[in-house]
Amino acid sequence: MFIVVEGLDGCGKTTQGKAINNWLIQEGRETLLTGEPSNNQIGLFLREVLMGVQKTDPKTLALLFTADRYWHLEKEVKPALNEGKIVVMERYVNSTIAYQAAQGVERKWIREVNRFAIKPDLTLFLDMKPEIAAQRADSGEIFENREFQEKVYVEYMKLKDMIIVEADKTREQVFHEIKEVIEPLLEK
Ligand code: TYD
Repeated sequence: MFIVVEGLDGCGKTTQGKAINNWLIQEGRETLLTGEPSNNQIGLFLREVLMGVQKTDPKTLALLFTADRYWHLEKEVKPALNEGKIVVMERYVNSTIAYQAAQGVERKWIREVNRFAIKPDLTLFLDMKPEIAAQRADSGEIFENREFQEKVYVEYMKLKDMIIVEADKTREQVFHEIKEVIEPLLEK
């Protein structure tokens, strides 16, 4: 099973991703907790772009995130799925659609170049209003400002393939909601 956690910067993805992973392990499942950008060379370059150390244009950035995704899928995600693990992943194709469309890149083109990307079984969107998320995001990355996060939020809201979880609550409440979504899928 392949679970993706999406949302704005500062919405609590990392906290909830860890909570999901710990719970699944307690349930006796084997898991891979991972995320994009990945830890390969492209991912490392992307981190430099995100910190403002390197510069690139939005379309190139979309391709770099996509190339990183291809590598990550082939080397880490697909092997884990083949071993029967549950993959819990922070960010995936919808991040490229939301963030790079917010930078002006055409959505249709982003989808086309991402055609290789296998479909998740579930994508959760941790829904937090941009003004709140932007206050919480503090890793110093280029996209962490309210104005841009508002654009990203608008782009996310156009996507239809996500289960929306209200994230402006305590971490326990958010996790409780997430569990209710995942539990029925585990019984299958
Ligand atoms: P983030 O979730 O903040 O990673 P970390 O917590 O490890 O720093 O993701 C990094 C940033 O990259 C975030 O602002 C969203 C952005 N991003 C894109 O713009 N496009 C993409 O395709 C992906 C995967 C992320």
